[in-house]
Amino acid sequence: MGARFIGWGIAVPDRVVTNDELSLTLDTSDEWIVERTGIHERRIGGTAMSLGVIAGRNALEDAGVEAKDIDFLVFATTTPDRITPATAPMVANELGLKCAAMDVNAACSGFMYAVRTAYGLLETGNKRVLVIGSENLSRWVDWSDRNMAVLLADGAGATVLEYDPTENDLLSFSLGADGADADLLTCEHGGYFQMDGAAVFRRAVRVVVDSAEKALAMAGITADDLSLVIPHQANIRIIQAACQRLNIEMDRAVVVLDHYGNTSSASIPLAFDDARKNDRVHKGDYALLTGFGAGMTWASAVVRWSQ
Ligand code: UT7
Repeated sequence: MGARFIGWGIAVPDRVVTNDELSLTLDTSDEWIVERTGIHERRIGGTAMSLGVIAGRNALEDAGVEAKDIDFLVFATTTPDRITPATAPMVANELGLKCAAMDVNAACSGFMYAVRTAYGLLETGNKRVLVIGSENLSRWVDWSDRNMAVLLADGAGATVLEYDPTENDLLSFSLGADGADADLLTCEHGGYFQMDGAAVFRRAVRVVVDSAEKALAMAGITADDLSLVIPHQANIRIIQAACQRLNIEMDRAVVVLDHYGNTSSASIPLAFDDARKNDRVHKGDYALLTGFGAGMTWASAVVRWSQ
């Protein structure tokens, strides 16, 4: 069985918030944020639905398919517009989809969980699945809390996955979850995001390396074979530490957190979009897509681009 990525799209709010702007109201500085996270600026605005609709529409257009061609919408978000209904049916309605639509919440692993779910849906008879990762993290940030305010941002990314009996982009997956670490990164009802940053950092490096090694082994390749790593964009130091342990030079990693910050389930498609715009995605190349987040959850996949 094969599944191919046939189109991608993104959406980011227009409003750019620089580190210097945050420093006006928070006890922080551009120097600290850049040195400790790699983030220079981020985009703030929109909702999970409004950003998701734009990213989804762009992905449909890029794939050259219409709303009627989509059999299922899997919508990854940590920040649904409402607790219920899920955001997916509203996005589907805006896009004119006439199919099943559901939310997936796996925090910053959400996009890869959604891709894994889509793969399973294609395996069981669906022809095309629209996957969207969309976040409005800024709504749940306490803007007087420097720990979170400098990290989180808004954005969305989407892809269309199509069943293909002859070609396959998705060679392997390694996903996991460990609720024993649930309290490391939380947002309670009516509250704000809170995180034990150092503990999440340590755990993130471990689970990314472990799941990446498993996905590489399952795909029958080694890290040397990878042309690209498209990681979740939380902190440049996490990406550097994971790449170092996997023996992957940083010039093979895609980094967009410098201008987008941490957009949770939108970060991997935003990074893919950047890689493609910079001509870093080539037919036949291997790539590692890897994410981690609250839960804790993690998810790696090895891809070989068929186009
Ligand atoms: O998407 C998945 C979830 N998120 C993540 O993966 C994030 C994981 N964690 C991280 O990225 C990092 O742990 C942080 C960026 C959150 C923090 O970096 P750190 O190097 O672990 O710093 P720290 O928490 O150890 O804090 C170092 C110092 C502390 O001051 P003292 O105790 O040394 O005096 C903090 O109070 O930096 C201080 N600090 C800040 N200073 C200026 C913490 N936040 C800030 C800030 N500006 N925004």
